[in-house]
Amino acid sequence: MPSYDRSAALHERACRVLAGGVSSEFRRFSQPHPLFYTRGRGTRITDADGNEYLDFTLSQGPLILGHSHPEVLARVADSCATGQLFAGQYEQELELAERLQRLIPCAERLRFALSGSEADHAAFRAARCLTGRGKILRFEGHYHGWLDNVAQGIGGPSLEALGPREHPNLLPWSKGLPERVRDEFLVLPWNDLALAEKTIAEHAGELAAVVTEPVMCNNGCILPRPGFLEGLRAACDRHGVLLIFDEVITGFRLALGGAQQYFGVIPDLAVFGKALANGYPISVLCGREKVMDVVARGEAIHAGTMNSGQSGVAAALAVLDVLEREPVHERLFALGRKLMAGLREAAQDAGQEVLVQGPGPMLHLGFTSVKEVHELRDCFAYDKARYAAFVRGMQDRGVRLIGRGLWYVSAAHSEADVDACVATTARVFRELN
Ligand SMILES: Cc1ncc(COP(=O)(O)O)c(C=O)c1O
Repeated sequence: MPSYDRSAALHERACRVLAGGVSSEFRRFSQPHPLFYTRGRGTRITDADGNEYLDFTLSQGPLILGHSHPEVLARVADSCATGQLFAGQYEQELELAERLQRLIPCAERLRFALSGSEADHAAFRAARCLTGRGKILRFEGHYHGWLDNVAQGIGGPSLEALGPREHPNLLPWSKGLPERVRDEFLVLPWNDLALAEKTIAEHAGELAAVVTEPVMCNNGCILPRPGFLEGLRAACDRHGVLLIFDEVITGFRLALGGAQQYFGVIPDLAVFGKALANGYPISVLCGREKVMDVVARGEAIHAGTMNSGQSGVAAALAVLDVLEREPVHERLFALGRKLMAGLREAAQDAGQEVLVQGPGPMLHLGFTSVKEVHELRDCFAYDKARYAAFVRGMQDRGVRLIGRGLWYVSAAHSEADVDACVATTARVFRELN
């Protein structure tokens, strides 16, 4: 069994200075305590005790090319030697914007920001500004960041707490939210087109936009039912409501132009982040010219001191070079399919009932006897305690996984990495019996 002693000591020290010992809520839940890391290279990450892990977290998704990709590092070093933040315009930023405009179907105009959360926030503001309406329709189980207005309606502790399907409870994720944000959102179960159509029609007069992850990556990695995204698009068009795709996970991962290219459904606004810069901070708000015009005219204000700094822009340019030059997506889908098949086979051999699903470049594994999940409410069938034990077993044997069941595949992963992971999984599945 590996030792986590040095991480434990550092965590104890961290708790005396960092709130909860971490800098993001999601880092609090690692077992047996938050681990400290010293080095990431390719598909491997090493902790402060010298334990090495095959990484399928990709640091919550951004590392589409793996840790410390040499081309990305070199481009960032070169660019940062000329300056770090002009807080003014420069040519590389323009080059990146032009490339994204060419690659992303809805990106007639765009703005750079730092995080997915704030770009989502800007999208909601632009939608309200253009339509003059106040409400946004969102879906249970989707994550659009941690800011006040979206820290509600994500999910709940139990199926009962979510309330009736047609009128779900808007449950807060955090305490300390202002009362008024409750009026900002309507929430529905995802993947139910008839219900979404009915709600959009009933609330058209007050609805600025519908926001969705095109794949429900944050719970179950669930694909849209055939026709669901197309139906949302049509319902929004019928009622003059804007459609926003939150592509913070799907972007650059399903295709260079994101899920909108992959599914052939073009939103009015979209938000990208994570994989664009392989771990450097940059996000994108983009959309149709007529919507983004409210930002261009300074009616819907968007700002940020650190926006489009050299490191993020240079890293993004390097990532796009690789993604456009090499058959990365083919590889991500092939490796993802191989991994999913291996996980299913390992589970069957060990007598574990699991559901493995996803498009491939990202996927989800959960312990359940249920054969299909289509929305958050179905995800209550997953045995979360069993998954937590599985994640700990995998970590103890050198594989790093995200605690909520989402797996990411990178271009750095090899077939041998997948085989090694499946072999470890088979062992841990047997040990769980
Ligand atoms: C779909 C989606 N949207 C928005 C966000 C928020 O992005 P960030 O963590 O960069 O603020 C995330 C983060 O995981 C996400 O998965």
